[in-house]
Amino acid sequence: MTIHDFSKENSLINKYILEVRDVSIQKDRMRFRRNIERIGEILSYEMSKTLEYSSKTVQTPLGEKTVNVPNSDIVLCSILRAGIPLHQGILNYFDGVENAFISAYRYHPDGGDEFEVHIKYLASPSLEGKTLILADPMLATGKTLENVLKAFESHGTPKQIHIISILGAKPGIDLADIIYPKNTHLWIAAVDDALNERGYIVPGLGDAGDLCYGPRLD
Ligand code: URA
Repeated sequence: MTIHDFSKENSLINKYILEVRDVSIQKDRMRFRRNIERIGEILSYEMSKTLEYSSKTVQTPLGEKTVNVPNSDIVLCSILRAGIPLHQGILNYFDGVENAFISAYRYHPDGGDEFEVHIKYLASPSLEGKTLILADPMLATGKTLENVLKAFESHGTPKQIHIISILGAKPGIDLADIIYPKNTHLWIAAVDDALNERGYIVPGLGDAGDLCYGPRLD
């Protein structure tokens, strides 16, 4: 897996990451969602440079021009709930792609810190031979990405996978690196070192789903 960690260079992404981490700015849910969307837009643009392109000829009012444009066999899949604003950010730029949604939640069998990831819902077109963009906003333990990969087995084999993520932790990135095909790319805005005992990224930003949409019952 090739890792593109944007916290290693200076760009506007750092400002948006700072704001999504900041406990006082986080209270503004609209700003929190929009910052995730903005990061999705910028990472999409960076990722677009590595896609396959074909030339297309366009008719203008005064003549013809040939332009290289990305091939259109792309499926964008987001992991609910916090994947929704990230999905929208990517879709703002890749407006013509097919869409897929998958729900994954943490199930604590004995009520303790240990959890399994359960997939409840998957709506996706065929992935066979296509480019799959996976929007996983918080790459914490990597267990969600592991289960998503299994769930997709019945939908065909993509020729290329791009994972787009807001924030990750080293253990989750290491697991994704092991289980995802070698030609996978990870586009990530920031990486923290550690997880706490409940599998949350430290210092991280908290629960991205709750910050986007409010708290839920367990
Ligand atoms: N999901 C979140 O929303 N936050 C984390 O830190 C880890 C997973």
